Amino acid sequence: MAAPKILIIPGSLRAGSINARLAAVAAAEFVRADVEVSRISLGDFPLPIYDGDLQARSGVPTSAINLKHMIGSHHGILIVTPEYNSSLPPLVKNAIDWVSRVQGAHETRGQVFQERAFAIASASGGRLGGTRCLAALRLVLTACRATVIPNQLALSFAGEAYDDMERLKHPADADALKAMVHQLIDVARNMM
Ligand SMILES: Cc1cc2nc3c(=O)[nH]c(=O)nc-3n(C[C@H](O)[C@H](O)[C@H](O)COP(=O)(O)O)c2cc1C
Repeated sequence: MAAPKILIIPGSLRAGSINARLAAVAAAEFVRADVEVSRISLGDFPLPIYDGDLQARSGVPTSAINLKHMIGSHHGILIVTPEYNSSLPPLVKNAIDWVSRVQGAHETRGQVFQERAFAIASASGGRLGGTRCLAALRLVLTACRATVIPNQLALSFAGEAYDDMERLKHPADADALKAMVHQLIDVARNMM
């Protein structure tokens, strides 16, 4: 059976982002699992805040169409996002909102979400590791009728979570990452 292609989307553009760092560690885990993995920056898909009048006037922005195609060319998607005020940051929500409005020929609106497996992870300097953001993001993706795998990773105290080889140093974190990565591969493969 063919190996699924995986896309990783960090939910922060910040230099030194702890979520971009976790996204890089997750990418290495996918490589160890022998699957093709790509990592993008949402900075390469600049989007205005969603506005229905703007869409009516000018259509869906090219960046939203490009991001939808990027998602569509992979079988499994991992979003690694910060928690902002117990929820997901506007960068991530706005990208999902725009992509959910893209409708290609011969497809229903937001179809790209329905045909793919999603995994979600968060890194935070706090004790909860972004758990509340993950609950919110799961809800949003489920509303888009995505398949969101049960395994997830909420990385607490993310600043102190790594060893000097840039690996997760606590076995519970490393095991959670591995379980999420392998479940995403399995579910994405079954949806191919
Ligand atoms: C507007 C705002 C709200 C935040 N709210 C939370 C929060 O609810 N929970 C949390 O753990 N961290 C919160 N933080 C701290 C972020 O987790 C921290 O800034 C983190 O480094 C952001 O992720 P990044 O490094 O990937 O950019 C918040 C930060 C900002 C800027």
